[in-house]
Amino acid sequence: MSKIAIMGAMVEEIEPLLEFLGTYESVEVADNTYYTAEYKGLELVIAYSKIGKVFASLTASTMIQKFGAEKLLFSGVAGAINPKLKIGDLIAATSLCQHDLDITAFGHPYGFVPEGGVFVESDKTLLAIANDVASDLEKPLLEGVIATGDQFVADEVRKDWIESTFNADALEMEGASVAVVCDAFDVPFFILRAISDSADMDAGFSFDEFLKSSAKESAQFVISMLDKLASK
Ligand code: ADE
Repeated sequence: MSKIAIMGAMVEEIEPLLEFLGTYESVEVADNTYYTAEYKGLELVIAYSKIGKVFASLTASTMIQKFGAEKLLFSGVAGAINPKLKIGDLIAATSLCQHDLDITAFGHPYGFVPEGGVFVESDKTLLAIANDVASDLEKPLLEGVIATGDQFVADEVRKDWIESTFNADALEMEGASVAVVCDAFDVPFFILRAISDSADMDAGFSFDEFLKSSAKESAQFVISMLDKLASK
């Protein structure tokens, strides 16, 4: 049976999934709760990591190392950079980078890690499945670059800098760290986000208003991806 990890950063991002599944078991590991369930022949492990790159790395690693996840799907919300993205719209990462990683003092580009790189590429098969799901549901799904950093961006200047430096379409606080972990363990991953705000001066208010509804949009899309994965 295929073992699939589904993670979010905040409880609101996984609650719709747990509500949809109805029955699941809870396992405590490293000060966090992991929910296990079966769905249409898929073995699922679900968790929210808490906010930021460090907790997200811990959760992704645990899902892979401790629970044996063979694929990882991330569901959550993001701030829009690309003006095509409105509240509730979905973006799937084609690649991810860390906008707050800076060793430019040594002549490296922003986001670069020696023996790493600037961008981590998402799994092409999962992206293709997502595109099939989007056309089945007749839902627009933008593909693009997601920039991650330990910073809630509510500032046009910072947002414009992230756009011009990384050509990013959306930003959030976990995706790239999950991508780095999955890439290191050779686990295919997919990072999906629904827009909650535009990373501008109103971002805090917008985030509070749309976190739940946008998180649900993303989670519902991931459920449709599970249906597709189960039928393969
Ligand atoms: N997640 C959702 N909106 C965000 C923002 N503006 N900055 C960082 N992470 C986010």
